[in-house]
Amino acid sequence: MKKFLALILALCMTFALVACGGGNSNDTTSNNTPSSTNTDTPSGDAKTVGIAMPTKSLERWNRDGAYLDEQFKAAGYNTIVTYSDNKNEQQVNDIQNMLAQGVDLLIIAAIDGAGLNTVMNDAGAAGIPVISYDRLIMNDNATYYVSFDNYTVGKLQGEYVRDALDLDNAAGPFNMEFTAGDPADNNAGYFFNGAMDVIKPYIDSGKVIVKSGQTAFDQVATDQWQTDVALDRAQNVLASYYSDGTQLDAWLCSNDSTSLGVTQAIQADYAGGNAVVITGQDGDEANLRNIKDGAQSMTVYKAVANEAVVTLDLAKAILNGETVDGGLISASGWDFDCAYDTESYETSAGNKCPSFLLVPDVVTADNMEAKLVTPGYYTVGDDGYLKATNG
Ligand code: GAL
Repeated sequence: MKKFLALILALCMTFALVACGGGNSNDTTSNNTPSSTNTDTPSGDAKTVGIAMPTKSLERWNRDGAYLDEQFKAAGYNTIVTYSDNKNEQQVNDIQNMLAQGVDLLIIAAIDGAGLNTVMNDAGAAGIPVISYDRLIMNDNATYYVSFDNYTVGKLQGEYVRDALDLDNAAGPFNMEFTAGDPADNNAGYFFNGAMDVIKPYIDSGKVIVKSGQTAFDQVATDQWQTDVALDRAQNVLASYYSDGTQLDAWLCSNDSTSLGVTQAIQADYAGGNAVVITGQDGDEANLRNIKDGAQSMTVYKAVANEAVVTLDLAKAILNGETVDGGLISASGWDFDCAYDTESYETSAGNKCPSFLLVPDVVTADNMEAKLVTPGYYTVGDDGYLKATNG
């Protein structure tokens, strides 16, 4: 019955796509070009996996897309990979297109966690399993979630600032600002809360002062994690509260794309002579360069190659009709830590989403070769800066 429904749905969708002139495209090609970066015709009995990434414009997703594509192909699956230019409607079209092409399973890193209901319901009706990849989709048809411990990402950033400023011992007070991520991304609140839970006691005690007064997520959020948006706000904050020479000690940024904007603003507009402690996340090449040069203090690195490994083993188990639970971790014999968590994430009120959560790590100038080059995620270029080996 499910197969029959899937066939009807696929036929309807194919018709709809043809009628509208076809599915659209990835970040770099335009109209009427299928958005797949892999145009292999599904062959033989191999199952096909649809991989929907948000955008090529944020560096990490290129690495995720490349690792997933590579690993699924190596395991004998056909793949369709899309990047949707950070546009929710485009991602909806891309996923509809993949359903129409008869994918057996979907892996989705959502642009807007609450913006995929229609297509998620279509997938559910067709019996196509969906794995929420890195970002949780707010729809109960997302049956599993693979990510990193998002709260811990923020906590590591907060702890880094706490220790760098020696908040427990130094006299202070210290001036600090915050920049958070995209409100449409379910992860962004976890990152912010993880960091704020570490720093808030120091704000309450007066050891840390936020001159802008902007300490609520909505005040410091960054639409689509864009560097330019973070840059603009940082310039405004610097002009309004620090242009008289007031010292700024730290700027907690939730990820590297926002950190890049904040760092540019500080380099251009900050009058103080001190090095400002700046956090990030992802290990983007430009940020690793800044870390080596002392312009950014740290990044929280998430080994997306391992995130792809977990996703592959989970997908295999689902497609083989196996019962999936924490036993997947021991059965797969991964050489990295991963927790099975059935409590922390919900796709709707009360509906828990079983999650496989990997462990993020702090990367600084001192440990970047050991953490990133030795395991093979990056190589050192001729210029001495790190280059990602994939994506
Ligand atoms: C988050 C992701 C981060 C960062 C950010 C911007 O969802 O977990 O690693 O990449 O999006 O793309």
